Amino acid sequence: MTAPFTLRDKTGEAGVGAGVWNLGPGGDPFGGPTREAIPILDRLPMIAEAGMSFYEAHDSEIPAEDADKAIKRAEECGLRCAMYTPSFFADPKFKDGAMTSNDSAIRKAGLENAKRAVDTTVKLGAKTMVFWNGREGFDFVLAKNGQDSFKRLVEGFNAVAQYARENHGDAVRFALEPKPNEPRANMYLANVGEVLYLISRLDAEAQPLFGANPETAHSRIAGLDYLWDVELCLEAGKLFHIHLNAQDGQRFDQDLPFGYTEPLKDLALLVVLQDAKYDGIVCFDVKAPRTDDPKNIADILTTSGQNLIWLWERALQVDRARIAALREENRATAIAGYLAECLYGR
Ligand code: GLC
Ligand code: MN
Repeated sequence: MTAPFTLRDKTGEAGVGAGVWNLGPGGDPFGGPTREAIPILDRLPMIAEAGMSFYEAHDSEIPAEDADKAIKRAEECGLRCAMYTPSFFADPKFKDGAMTSNDSAIRKAGLENAKRAVDTTVKLGAKTMVFWNGREGFDFVLAKNGQDSFKRLVEGFNAVAQYARENHGDAVRFALEPKPNEPRANMYLANVGEVLYLISRLDAEAQPLFGANPETAHSRIAGLDYLWDVELCLEAGKLFHIHLNAQDGQRFDQDLPFGYTEPLKDLALLVVLQDAKYDGIVCFDVKAPRTDDPKNIADILTTSGQNLIWLWERALQVDRARIAALREENRATAIAGYLAECLYGR
């Protein structure tokens, strides 16, 4: 049992979270599971024991009819729901997307699915619902009309916002999570810039309800710097949620433990979050590797948590005045050196 990880002196929520899917059975596109699948609700106590204060889920993992059971199990182990999301990617009917499908019946099914997810988000007590772009995208050019797809996204999100306002007041807000590819060759809302542009095209009443959920590895898969992606969200006042993990450069989505690949950049990211007084929940989006034995399946969460706390504490110590002075002197390399000193000591 790991004591809950707590981000010292953090504005707002100081506990951290993880998704129930993070503790999956280890299947990948080339081979089936390597472990028995743990029933979803049994993963809640495991997430709590790994030091998390929050959990995340999709509607396919905790469907509306299981919400009462989930609430009870979460209460028993002291977890709260950080965010909930519709699953627009698992059901074969969403094979070509939900909101951007060329088939209006599928778009309608997607919208109904999203409305149910809004109700379940509120019922589970989460304040944020995430839309991950998933299968909204294309593998072949001209398979969809891009301009129509964009309009469909705008219409869909406007409708979701209206439904949420009418039925739940301001109980819930929405965070769009960009990713450039996988599962589609090309995904709509590929990066933070596209997400912010889409929000700017929503109805005026819908815009305040929508923000972003940037994920460090997704930026990396796009070959982008995640620090700038997060800063852009902050500048727009749209950092509603955040997913931390790590990635070995531009390749398939790995969902590695936070802090594993680029600790220096992670340190800088935490400095930025601290200075911006980010008050939302910090969550991991990591995946227990298929090589891990069942008994160690939660190592991915404890490793991420330990790395995060280590880096967070060092970020608190970073001398902001020193960085400002080095900037003043145009000493970018020395800033990198100073960050390394903060991380590794001398
Ligand atoms: C999937 C994605 C993950 C996203 C989540 C939320 O699990 O892999 O990045 O955060 O869905 O919808
Ligand atoms: Mn994610």
